[in-house]
Amino acid sequence: MTMRRNVFYLILLFLGFLLSLTFITEKQAESNARVSYEVKIPLGIPRDIWEIFVPPDNPITPEKVELGRKLYFDKRLSVDNTVSCATCHDPKFAFTDGKKVSEGVKGQKGARNAPTVLNAMFYEEQFWDGRAKTLEEQAKQPIINPIEMGMPDHDAVVKKLKGIPEYVDAFKKVFGGEITIDRIAQAIAAFERTLLTGNSPFDRFIAGDQNAISESAKRGWQLFQGKARCITCHEFNRSNPFFTDNKYHNIGVAMNQEGFAELARKAELLVKEGKLDQRKLDELALNPAYSELGRFLVTFNPKDIGAFKTPTLRNVELTAPYMHDGSEATLLDVIEFYNRGGNENPNLSGEMRPLNLTDQEKQDLVEFLKSLTGEFPKDFPENK
Ligand code: HEC
Ligand code: HEC
Repeated sequence: MTMRRNVFYLILLFLGFLLSLTFITEKQAESNARVSYEVKIPLGIPRDIWEIFVPPDNPITPEKVELGRKLYFDKRLSVDNTVSCATCHDPKFAFTDGKKVSEGVKGQKGARNAPTVLNAMFYEEQFWDGRAKTLEEQAKQPIINPIEMGMPDHDAVVKKLKGIPEYVDAFKKVFGGEITIDRIAQAIAAFERTLLTGNSPFDRFIAGDQNAISESAKRGWQLFQGKARCITCHEFNRSNPFFTDNKYHNIGVAMNQEGFAELARKAELLVKEGKLDQRKLDELALNPAYSELGRFLVTFNPKDIGAFKTPTLRNVELTAPYMHDGSEATLLDVIEFYNRGGNENPNLSGEMRPLNLTDQEKQDLVEFLKSLTGEFPKDFPENK
């Protein structure tokens, strides 16, 4: 009896062992598939964090990155061959455009400032209002936004690229099939996941080099975590070294006080009429009449009126002007803005209050922000 039971347990043990083996090899295969491309991961970004943010259904391969890079710089993705992703996210401006608000085809202006694409893969959601969940979903929007790249629809984009033999070949090689809008987005997103930044003086300081940043920047870092309370929203820790909490706050940049309630009602009406699909939402977000609603356009939660995503602060020295509407010209202007507790409005975040910083403290905070300027990929032959 006991003998039989022992055999039974042995078999069970053996089966468990087999099961764990297949589990481990599957895990191994999955992570191998995700990282077959040798991306240079800079100091300050843990490799395991990077790997977690590469989705298993869009593994990174050298050929896909190459294709994505080509698409990213190709103006033929726009209706009149004048605008590419790189027009507004230019490597020369740390992947922004240096403008207050972006300009698309025929010089049309939107209502929002172009954020950097560097490290954008680490955001939980894309855009200032988080209206796209992933880089893949994001990449499909600007191509058909009438004031950005202006293509009439996704079918027209696919048709246009199918007329370019080198793309037909490249998609066959990378995806084993024909060109589709989802594959276009996947290739661009794969390329974006190689656009990393790190190894700033601050990263070297955190890694232990006491001399990597100035005494003023060190005081600024203390203020950032203490008296100035910046770290409440611009989170920084080992698993999230990107200076964002991935949340949305009304810090009083948008302060269209009388307009908010009326605008919100107009937007709600559109939803009721079933007119607010993803495309319409993308257009409203860049429309000066609706843009200031911010996160509200995505959630329709009144507490999200005028709330925008906390942006990363890496390379912020290079990406002026600031805020979702480009309303602050310099880093010192931004600090003055926080020092007065933001602009009063009915939805202002409870985290915003006057800081009573001295001139020296303001300067120290600016010095700290400048210590976040790091290395990033710059040399792209197609951007010369
Ligand atoms: C005409 C200028 C313009 C073009 C062209 C453009 N973008 Fe943008 N991009 C912007 C602006 C402005 C925003 C912010 C809009 C918003 O949040 O509502 C943005 C947001 C983004 C974001 C979100 C980043 C974040 O911090 O949330 C990514 C990623 C991005 N763009 C990638 C691309 C890609 C890829 C292309 C090409 C397919 C592209 N963009 C084309 C101006 C542009
Ligand atoms: C309540 C949350 C919160 C706090 C506290 C906070 N920020 Fe921000 N920060 C944000 C949000 C949200 C934005 C974008 C707001 C917008 O555009 O409407 C932002 C934008 C910025 C920008 C502009 C970045 C860009 O690319 O345009 C800088 C710089 C900045 N913050 C630095 C700081 C500093 C320094 C402090 C401390 C003095 C601080 N923040 C405190 C949430 C916060």
